[in-house]
Amino acid sequence: MRFIVLVSVMMSFLVASEASYNRGETLFFSHACSSCHGPAAEGSTSYPKLANKKSAYLRKKLTDFRAGKASSVSQQMMSQFAEKLSDKNIDDLVNFLANHKQVKIKDMDDAYLGGVGS
Ligand code: HEC
Repeated sequence: MRFIVLVSVMMSFLVASEASYNRGETLFFSHACSSCHGPAAEGSTSYPKLANKKSAYLRKKLTDFRAGKASSVSQQMMSQFAEKLSDKNIDDLVNFLANHKQVKIKDMDDAYLGGVGS
């Protein structure tokens, strides 16, 4: 009995965090984060990489930006995007970015590739 309770608690945790990851992924694209940080959150010379950074670090950065803490022009630019985020949005974005799963070519199926190359 105890085992069943434990398993069901673990399952609900996994489902909840997967839902949060998926919401974070949607937000990452719908809030234009991907346009600067790259579709795989990989960053570029002007924009930092976000994928797989520590969740505490990402959360601190986003809450500071949201609060308007910015000491450079690029941080002010970032703050404009963080301003609109709710606590829940930040939770979901952090969950998505800190646990970011890179899509590997071998994992892509025909549906993902739109049937090209099959
Ligand atoms: C217009 C371009 C732009 C957009 C859009 C943008 N960012 Fe940024 N972001 C930046 C820049 C530039 C920095 C670096 C700021 C600095 O100099 O510290 C940054 C920094 C960050 C950092 C801190 C990273 C680190 O390693 O210090 C996080 C986290 C972040 N962005 C998340 C997001 C999220 C989430 C979104 C979408 C809601 C987003 N950004 C949208 C440009 C952008």
